[in-house]
Amino acid sequence: MHQKVVIVTGASKGIGKAIAERISEDGYKVINFDIILPKENDNNIEYLSCDISSETEVKKSFDYIIQKYHQLYAIVNNAGIIKDNVIWKMSSNDFDKVININLKGTWLMCREAVKYMKEKHFGKIINISSRAWLGNPGQTNYSASKSGIIGLSRALALEVGKFNITVNIIAPGLIKTELTDHLPPHVLQKLIDAQPQKNIGKPEDIANVATFLLNEKTSFINGQIIYVDGGKSIGQGIN
Ligand SMILES: NC(=O)c1ccc[n+]([C@@H]2O[C@H](COP(=O)([O-])OP(=O)(O)OC[C@H]3O[C@@H](n4cnc5c(N)ncnc54)[C@H](O)[C@@H]3O)[C@@H](O)[C@H]2O)c1
Repeated sequence: MHQKVVIVTGASKGIGKAIAERISEDGYKVINFDIILPKENDNNIEYLSCDISSETEVKKSFDYIIQKYHQLYAIVNNAGIIKDNVIWKMSSNDFDKVININLKGTWLMCREAVKYMKEKHFGKIINISSRAWLGNPGQTNYSASKSGIIGLSRALALEVGKFNITVNIIAPGLIKTELTDHLPPHVLQKLIDAQPQKNIGKPEDIANVATFLLNEKTSFINGQIIYVDGGKSIGQGIN
């Protein structure tokens, strides 16, 4: 196997799918860890059923991939969910679900990857956070999970740098996927109006940055948050 193996979580649709397709075109061997099957079968992208919030499933899936390919170049932790509500209406179950998948799932994936990468003295980790880590009303659970990913990634970059492993974060802003398609139209329009460029991004906008970070030539970038959000993270003007 001469192709570099990259695991992408949640690549059956949305941003993960765009990342998987783009990096597969760029020559990587892509494995998709997801809980749902992709709608269209892509022979170049291998699907593995894996719930990233399950320690047992994550361990089993890693063992399988390492035994099969004997290498791992990178992981892209993209899988994530939302369960939005104002805090006074949010159930603790919806808090736990979001934290368990978005934050603990990312942590479980990082732990298994690092165990292997540190032995090989090489690896790249990309964690997908969100501009919402800065704070979004109705997303106390989601914002907490996405800022958790930032703390986790920065601490991890410091821990594993000596093993030649880099850890970077992409913080997408508003991107058109099923996740945003499910928002009430008036809410989506408000979000678009709040964008400096009054627009919504495409999953490919994130995929372009993921492939940039996966390139060996960008390995001096480490521990950074790259916002891909049309400028929303700059703050709000009065226009
Ligand atoms: N769409 C946006 O505007 C936006 C903005 C900022 C950040 N993000 C983040 O980008 C990532 C992808 O978002 P999206 O819009 O493509 O979402 P999406 O809902 O379209 O796709 C998410 C994918 O993750 C998978 N998934 C969910 N739970 C899983 C689990 N336990 N184990 C494995 N896979 C699981 C789903 O099956 C799905 O294929 C998420 O982490 C999300 O928080 C999205």
